[in-house]
Amino acid sequence: MKVCVIGGAGYIGSHTVYELIDDHHEVVVIDNLSTGQRDAVHPKAKFHFGDITNFEQLDEIFKEETALKPFDAVMHFAAKIVVPESVEKPLDYYHNNVEGVRVMLAVMANHGVKNIIFSSTAAVYGQPENGVCKEDDETKPINPYGETKLASEKMIQWVSDAYDMNYCIFRYFNVAGAHESLEIGLNRDVLTHIIPITVQTALKIRDEMSIFGNDYDTADGTCVRDYIHVSDLAQAHVLGMKYIVNENKSGIFNLGSSKGFSVLEVVNEVSKYKPVNYKVGPRRAGDPAMLIASSNKAKEVLGFETERSLEKIIESDIKYREK
Ligand SMILES: NC(=O)c1ccc[n+]([C@@H]2O[C@H](COP(=O)([O-])OP(=O)(O)OC[C@H]3O[C@@H](n4cnc5c(N)ncnc54)[C@H](O)[C@@H]3O)[C@@H](O)[C@H]2O)c1
Repeated sequence: MKVCVIGGAGYIGSHTVYELIDDHHEVVVIDNLSTGQRDAVHPKAKFHFGDITNFEQLDEIFKEETALKPFDAVMHFAAKIVVPESVEKPLDYYHNNVEGVRVMLAVMANHGVKNIIFSSTAAVYGQPENGVCKEDDETKPINPYGETKLASEKMIQWVSDAYDMNYCIFRYFNVAGAHESLEIGLNRDVLTHIIPITVQTALKIRDEMSIFGNDYDTADGTCVRDYIHVSDLAQAHVLGMKYIVNENKSGIFNLGSSKGFSVLEVVNEVSKYKPVNYKVGPRRAGDPAMLIASSNKAKEVLGFETERSLEKIIESDIKYREK
């Protein structure tokens, strides 16, 4: 298939491009390189510099590509993703994340592209009561980032009804790890994810890390999260694309491992490699005690199962950062 990957120079997008190329698809990446890196794009993928919020620019790229061969599907990764920043700058987040999706859908409709695979997030669930999230649970985001993703999900569903499109919406839980080639991984100036922060502390790239609260109602008092290796996640996108294109269907799927690990368990796992210097600070506003995916739907409908354990996720991040 010919696939357009918008945001394909970023962390998850670049890993998905690697999986698509491994599975023999033709890949065209569009990215404004605001957080992504040009050299993270697989050498066999074609690259266009472009901004998803700019209709004329995106439409021109689609015109050029469609003249060569129409796209079978579009994958969308092009979002701003830092929760505290979204609280400070909600208008930037609505512009990039929601207006960007509107422009992308308008361009897709203009060029008759019928299939969209969209990156959403567990943040759409907000603070679920029992900590285990199913796709049809209530959605109640507690920050602008989650709201922009939920608004995009809804827009995609309405537009797919009106323009006869198929969608695959993936709600990711905590994504971590690096590609086995170690060519790509999570490479950002400001890291906000627990696994790379813990690994950086073990590698003495940072002096100390904080655990935010150890008085939650969990086995060891620290927050419990569901971790998924970025290459497992990327493989799910290939399955999702085949499902909507070949079966002409749509769906919303959680992507996680259905297993929960506490922050302290992550720190202890990294400490097996090298000691981690941490302190326990106060809770952060808006952190639920537990957030775990129910992943049965992705397994039953797409045949998706995670292959890589928490140990593998951590090991790959360590190897990537050492390199
Ligand atoms: N990383 C996670 O743990 C996580 C969890 C849940 C959901 N997600 C979702 O996954 C997607 C990808 O996240 P990521 O971690 O790879 O982030 P990232 O910042 O590494 O990647 C985003 C990519 O999109 C590009 N981009 C951003 N705005 C753009 C625009 N206006 N036009 C063109 N390109 C633009 C960036 O340059 C970057 O290459 C996002 O939609 C995010 O909401 C990520």
